[in-house]
Amino acid sequence: SPQIVITGVASGIGKETAQLLSSQGYHVIGVDRAPVEDFAGTFIQGDLSDPTGVNQIAHKIRETAPAGIHGLANIAGVPGTAPTEVVLNINVFGVRDLIQAVRPQLQRGSSIVNLASAVAYQWRAHKAQLAEFALAADRQQAITQALADDHIVGHSYLFSKQCVSLLSEYFAAEFVADGIRVNSVSPGPVETPILEDFKNDHGRDKVNSAATTLGRFGAPADIAQCIAYLLSPEAAWVNGTDLRVDGGLTAYRETAQF
Ligand code: NAI
Repeated sequence: SPQIVITGVASGIGKETAQLLSSQGYHVIGVDRAPVEDFAGTFIQGDLSDPTGVNQIAHKIRETAPAGIHGLANIAGVPGTAPTEVVLNINVFGVRDLIQAVRPQLQRGSSIVNLASAVAYQWRAHKAQLAEFALAADRQQAITQALADDHIVGHSYLFSKQCVSLLSEYFAAEFVADGIRVNSVSPGPVETPILEDFKNDHGRDKVNSAATTLGRFGAPADIAQCIAYLLSPEAAWVNGTDLRVDGGLTAYRETAQF
């Protein structure tokens, strides 16, 4: 059966996506820094926040699937209530470095899906600025510079998720000749343990008003279904794009200004 690597499987959207793909017949190689018991597939406990952790995870993926893998869903992430350095290390470089580390394992026809966020649509940094940060060869220097930028520090989560979408486009272009697709998914507010942190970061009333407008928050399954689609061969012509899955929230807020 096809081998799919999913990060963030201990909780929320990652947990739901792992269960869905297992039920669809994939062999799921799940990654999380938190322990998971009774995982349907192979579970690798590891930390994506530094290059050593990423390399250890990539090594275990190679051991688990010596014949290669067919997909990667980068779902692990932390909210903006975490220190800026932690947000940037996990949400941006964790994603970038894991993609690069498993690149030799990815078979032709593989699909990569990275979790961005609908909040990234609120204000757009210049792509050149995002690329300079997200593609920096010297990660520590890039983070030191970012920590001196008040705008990034004040919007660390938003900035990190814009970098995720930028990286997705970048890798889509880089891998296009190898038949490997890369897309991002941008969820609106989804009921998972992280939602409480979003309320603390973006404002309780603003986040709660989303559920009032839409009738409910998103459920992990709303997002998992879209990730599963992008990983599947049915999405063969969907490449280098972002799928916003927010119940219409961004459209509602943007058109309210007309
Ligand atoms: P969650 O907090 O329920 O799950 C995140 C998982 O990632 C946890 O199991 C955690 O242990 C793992 N993780 C975090 N840092 C890690 C690291 N350094 N190494 C290994 N594992 C690590 O969060 P949720 O809601 O399931 O979020 C999943 C993704 O979706 C995140 O990237 C998040 O930013 C994104 N997202 C979530 C939204 C929401 O409203 N829940 C909205 C938009 C985006």
